[in-house]
Amino acid sequence: MKYRMLGRTGLKVSELCFGAMTFGREASEADSHHMLDQFIEAGGNFIDTADVYTQGVSEEIVGHWLNKKRRSDVVIATKVRFAMGEGLNDVGLTRKHIMDGVQASLHRLNTDYIDLYQVHAWDPQTPIEETLSTLNDLVRKGWVRYIGVSNFRAWQLQKAIYTSRMQGWEVMASLQPQYNLLCRATEFELLPLAEHEGLAVLPWSPLRGGWLSGKFQRGMNQPPANTRIEEAEKQGWGESWSQYNHESTWKVLDALFEVAKQIEKSPAQVALNWLLSHKAVTAPIIGARNMEQLESNLGASGWSLTPNQVAQLNEASHLPVSYPYDEASEQQQQSGRV
Ligand SMILES: NC(=O)c1ccc[n+]([C@@H]2O[C@H](COP(=O)([O-])OP(=O)(O)OC[C@H]3O[C@@H](n4cnc5c(N)ncnc54)[C@H](OP(=O)(O)O)[C@@H]3O)[C@@H](O)[C@H]2O)c1
Repeated sequence: MKYRMLGRTGLKVSELCFGAMTFGREASEADSHHMLDQFIEAGGNFIDTADVYTQGVSEEIVGHWLNKKRRSDVVIATKVRFAMGEGLNDVGLTRKHIMDGVQASLHRLNTDYIDLYQVHAWDPQTPIEETLSTLNDLVRKGWVRYIGVSNFRAWQLQKAIYTSRMQGWEVMASLQPQYNLLCRATEFELLPLAEHEGLAVLPWSPLRGGWLSGKFQRGMNQPPANTRIEEAEKQGWGESWSQYNHESTWKVLDALFEVAKQIEKSPAQVALNWLLSHKAVTAPIIGARNMEQLESNLGASGWSLTPNQVAQLNEASHLPVSYPYDEASEQQQQSGRV
């Protein structure tokens, strides 16, 4: 396992982060603990969860495991923003919900500090100053070591960074966006912003919930049984079969299988390594429902796709671009002439 800096901070994290969203949902507590042990054994030190994953159960499972470990050996990231109760104020990025949320997360995680506390998404109803000053207070209190965001648009993130900077508050250290071979719009604004501001980038759903895992191939007419994608269809989640059963997806999967065959890696390993090849990416957040999947995904670290293989995947997954992201606009930006 290789290690990278968490953005501009001095914190060293493994280049694969282990996501705990399946804990207590697809994976039992015992299986989740075995997977966490295996991840550490492989050199991983970075774990991502959220209060809302199975309504606190994922954090509890991580907390029970953490109880048996040396706290300083692991970097624990969690999130706040989504509803944790029926109450009017049990949601959002208000001072009230963040203060309630951090205390509940600390309790469930069995720890007295969170390494990376991320806001899970923008809250249009709360002034950003209220959110950012509260996050700053959490760092000053020592409850939180670093702060980050997830699912912000670029203007929202830039506004948050500048507001904190102007006020002398703690500035965001990381961005957790969706980013994978089936979701490359992240490259338009968010990745250049992250590079410019020195933010760590932690892509979520690096296999788009299973679409890039190797179990989907052209010619299928329904998702395999008992998979996330099958469940997504029933629940109306974004990674559902009907959202992705299109020629553009099958074209990406053709290229993924082709490259995987050339180099004798699994499609999942190739899709994860493609993310690692991007200079803005710090650590994709891998997901697994069992040990076999985890072990396979850990095999994405320790080697590199060639530039030609990256180009082949880029070409197959290329999104149509128009102004202000097209080539003419790019040239204009570079030359400084109109
Ligand atoms: N910030 C956010 O809004 C947000 C949103 C989503 C996720 N996340 C974070 O990102 C982490 C990863 O997200 P994700 O679970 O969606 O990741 P993902 O890697 O895109 O999908 C994981 C799923 O793909 C399948 N899979 C994974 N590896 C496989 C393998 N080697 N072989 C076969 N199938 C495999 C499994 O589902 P099946 O076995 O059911 O097919 C697994 O549950 C989460 O744990 C969470 O920490 C954050």
